[in-house]
Amino acid sequence: MKKLTLIVLLQMFAFTAIFAQTDLMQNTYNREKTTLNGKWKVIIDPYDNGSYSYRLDRFDEMSRSPRSAYYMDAKAKDKTDRMEYDFDTAETLMVPGSWNMQNDKYYWYEGSMWYRRLFTFNKKAENNEVFVRFEGANYKTHVYLNGKKLGQHVGGFTPFEFNITDLLREGDNSLVVVVNNMRHRDAVPTVNTDWFNYGGLTRDVFLYEVPQQHITDYKIQLKKNQPNEIGVKIATNGMAAGAKVQLNIPELKISKELTVDSNGEISTSVKVRKISYWSPSNPKLYDVELVAGADHLKDQIGFRTIAVDGSKILLNGEQIFLKGISIHEENPIRGDRAFSEDDARTMLGWAKELGCNFVRLAHYPHNENMLRMADEMGMMVWEENPVYWTIAWENEETYKNAKNQLAEVMTRDKNRASVIVWSMANETPPGEARDIFLKKLVAFTKAHDDTRLLSAAMEKHKDKKNKKIMIVDDKFAEHVDLLSFNEYIGWYTGKPTSSEKIIWKIKYDKPVIISEFGGGALAGFHGDETTQWTEEYQAAIYREQMKMLSKIPQWAGATPWILTDFRSPRRPLGGIQDGYNRKGLISETGEKKKAFFILQNFYKNK
Ligand code: GCU
Repeated sequence: MKKLTLIVLLQMFAFTAIFAQTDLMQNTYNREKTTLNGKWKVIIDPYDNGSYSYRLDRFDEMSRSPRSAYYMDAKAKDKTDRMEYDFDTAETLMVPGSWNMQNDKYYWYEGSMWYRRLFTFNKKAENNEVFVRFEGANYKTHVYLNGKKLGQHVGGFTPFEFNITDLLREGDNSLVVVVNNMRHRDAVPTVNTDWFNYGGLTRDVFLYEVPQQHITDYKIQLKKNQPNEIGVKIATNGMAAGAKVQLNIPELKISKELTVDSNGEISTSVKVRKISYWSPSNPKLYDVELVAGADHLKDQIGFRTIAVDGSKILLNGEQIFLKGISIHEENPIRGDRAFSEDDARTMLGWAKELGCNFVRLAHYPHNENMLRMADEMGMMVWEENPVYWTIAWENEETYKNAKNQLAEVMTRDKNRASVIVWSMANETPPGEARDIFLKKLVAFTKAHDDTRLLSAAMEKHKDKKNKKIMIVDDKFAEHVDLLSFNEYIGWYTGKPTSSEKIIWKIKYDKPVIISEFGGGALAGFHGDETTQWTEEYQAAIYREQMKMLSKIPQWAGATPWILTDFRSPRRPLGGIQDGYNRKGLISETGEKKKAFFILQNFYKNK
């Protein structure tokens, strides 16, 4: 009997986290912010001299934090005092922005860069809490305030933040950040990628404050396949069991007083008869208000259901075809990482002009402005974890890193109606260790979000006997909702006209998404359809691909590779690539190639 009681007791007190465990505050997008964007002082540090403790290993915290550690932001006391660094006399870089694109001497730099920003901050109320938030920094980041370590973050594309309440001081506060973008075999992504390794504080940095009692996280979305039931999960800080949180969605005539439990959490649902469902043709967003004590938080949330039925994709119960395009997070005109609302408007504007209702944000989580803009513009979104190519599948740290980056993007974007797909990976070679790694990611994702479809960009292979037969039988496909794969018939395999003879053998009765196809072309380079790199060659690939793919009965969508030309260190061909991957439908100067209009025409008539 005793044993049974013990088990029951343990289960009662087991902390049932209703969210993926990340210390990310939900919806800082709508909180009042104090931006730290602008000029930061920087010191380049290829030998990690700023943290080097005279040992051979790199980047080791100083055991006795001497003034020579850059995070101390120390000054020479007088003319007899020897100091060998000084942020005040250092160069500056703009934040956000990669260092690569701001100074030719940093173009190929891979290593540590120290950043320092001085700021003053006066709290509005005595017991408020103050946070510093980084929307993204590539790749490994350590953060210090007034000489004290706040913490660190790994991953180039997800937000992170720290509570700085107890470390704030009167007058100038010294925020010191070191970002290291070196590639590592066991990192996520690993050492080899077909994109440029932009380093630094590539997204917004800002401060914000909240009352001591505040809302930390929430998910307010239709429950899985429940078109008239909104699931409501809320987590709070500093609120005792029985405390009240007000939920208002005026246009749905919802005004409910909810009660937090002993964990400071709420998990309930609200039935609603009539909802204007979010969709590309009707990107309806509702004003949602949460009031918890002195904390008033607003959000703009769309309600929709997404499901699969055999090989059909159903949005709000109706079959849809995903007219998509793949996008890297790079504003080609400015030539750096995209980060702003304007960048999002530019990129999604081009996708809209192409006739898209769907975008694949490759190959990593993009900045939040893209998701908010997709919600507003009515663009469905595939978000992707940077588990790209030959990841170190056997390494437990690598798995934790991949899981953490996935948890962070799921935490940030869980209320975005536009997000319909979480993609686990891209073009990962099948194998036992890879299958185990990806299946664990699927289980983790499903445990934290059963309202979205799962996928991964898999690979096809040729039939051994008959080269005209292409086979998709990746075992991992059994574990995802959308059967997605990349194929380059006409570019890496055969010529454009090869497509018409290809027969696809697809083992699963699931919606088929072609997550990549396409070919390279230099904008303005013209010739016949057999000449590589001409716009005509690329246009022929698209024309022939459409004919071939239309023969696949389960075909449910495509995100051709790719909206715009993008920088890649793997594309050196002088006079044609010049360091760019040229598969864009639009050049890096914004010029539309012939293939843009082939795809636009196909989507218009689909
Ligand atoms: C792969 C990969 C892309 C890459 C593309 C290409 O499919 O997923 O990241 O850019 O091929 O070769 O252009």
